[in-house]
Amino acid sequence: MGQKTIYNYNQKIPEWNESLEIGIDAIDREHRFFLDLIREIEAEGVRDPGSEFIQLYIDELILYARFHFFSEEIYMKKIQFPGLQKHRELHLQLVGKLSDQVTRFQLKEIDIESIVEFLVNWFKYHTLVEDVKIARFISS
Ligand SMILES: [Fe+2]
Repeated sequence: MGQKTIYNYNQKIPEWNESLEIGIDAIDREHRFFLDLIREIEAEGVRDPGSEFIQLYIDELILYARFHFFSEEIYMKKIQFPGLQKHRELHLQLVGKLSDQVTRFQLKEIDIESIVEFLVNWFKYHTLVEDVKIARFISS
């Protein structure tokens, strides 16, 4: 029928909600924006899987991830968080993994659905397992 393949993986991108908050406003605000950027990539993929904006939005997200990690590291330093060094290494690994995924996407080895799934899992794990340790340190 000449219809485009319609894929919908909206459900995998959670709406912002309290369970995603770590309880530090400055960090939560950035996490929320990060999730919006993932949503933007996904929406563009649904609108037009061949859109050149997908790559531009991915580049925007990479720049934002670096900015966000830098902010988080300044914050950890300010509060003298003992896990700073380890956390900084995790950030470096994440940036590396992300750039691997993006290269695979550019080579068409993986599709946009996989990249969105990767970003959501990445976001959830890092935020709820690692960033939450910063919040716990503050409240201890
Ligand atoms: Fe982090």
